[in-house]
Amino acid sequence: MTDRQPPVLRATGLAKSFGHVQALRHGELTVHAGEVVALVGDNGAGKSTLISCISGTHLPDAGEVRVDDRPMPLGSIKAAMEHGIATVYQGLAMAPDLSVAENLFLSCELRRPGLLGRLGLLDKKAMRERAWELMDSLGITTLQDVTLPVGDLSGGQRQVVAVARAVSRAGRLVIMDEPTAALGARQSQMVIETIRATRDRGLGVVLISHDLPRVLEVADRIVVMRLGRVVADVPARDLKIGQIVALMLGEQNDPREESLPA
Ligand SMILES: Nc1ncnc2c1ncn2[C@@H]1O[C@H](COP(=O)(O)OP(=O)(O)O)[C@@H](O)[C@H]1O
Ligand SMILES: [Mg+2]
Repeated sequence: MTDRQPPVLRATGLAKSFGHVQALRHGELTVHAGEVVALVGDNGAGKSTLISCISGTHLPDAGEVRVDDRPMPLGSIKAAMEHGIATVYQGLAMAPDLSVAENLFLSCELRRPGLLGRLGLLDKKAMRERAWELMDSLGITTLQDVTLPVGDLSGGQRQVVAVARAVSRAGRLVIMDEPTAALGARQSQMVIETIRATRDRGLGVVLISHDLPRVLEVADRIVVMRLGRVVADVPARDLKIGQIVALMLGEQNDPREESLPA
């Protein structure tokens, strides 16, 4: 991470209202390559709305998103994907009857070479091999068999597959909305390790999570939202859980401001 390289993501001044609910008043988010940024805040703070404006599922009323310093068209999932942004949404979209390998390649299946491929025949062997390579490169050891249907996996294993799928599609940034919600301690740990491996591949990661102890374990920077605004953006090593909670609840100001001379 150097200052000479532009950040992977720079979102500024994002705003979004739903009717008269102003869900997002001032969304700011910067992420560098190889960095995990945790986005935290109480329920309704605007976290999901902010990332939806970045991943293209919502068209913001105002603001700008730049990827590698290039402006990205807003309100288009396709444009966000083409800019290398992949998102793991709250509540996964995976096909339970399809295998791990098939889910990894869902809607970008590998076809057999030549005429058979043009006739629509899938290259299952190549997909299995690529699935193994991907698991291996992310240090995922929990899956013994990529031909198992996703519906037969544990919640943690399924979440790991969802993260792996996003990683395989993201050139620059992976966004995860509550990837460890509803998981037990061991399973959450598995997901956190996959997030670390994702960062180590040089991708930027945005992690939304309520699990503050785990957030502090993995995040390089913490961005706190309250009532639709970003109220703090601080290196994770400077923060304790109590301070994050105080920022979330509005009981403490951004620590950066406190350290400024009066
Ligand atoms: N599609 C929507 N329609 C109406 N209100 C919404 C919609 N999405 C979010 N909101 C409202 O916007 C606010 C922020 O929500 P959200 O971004 O989901 O917060 P968070 O993810 O931090 O819990 C909440 O008050 C929520 O009820
Ligand atoms: Mg949310």
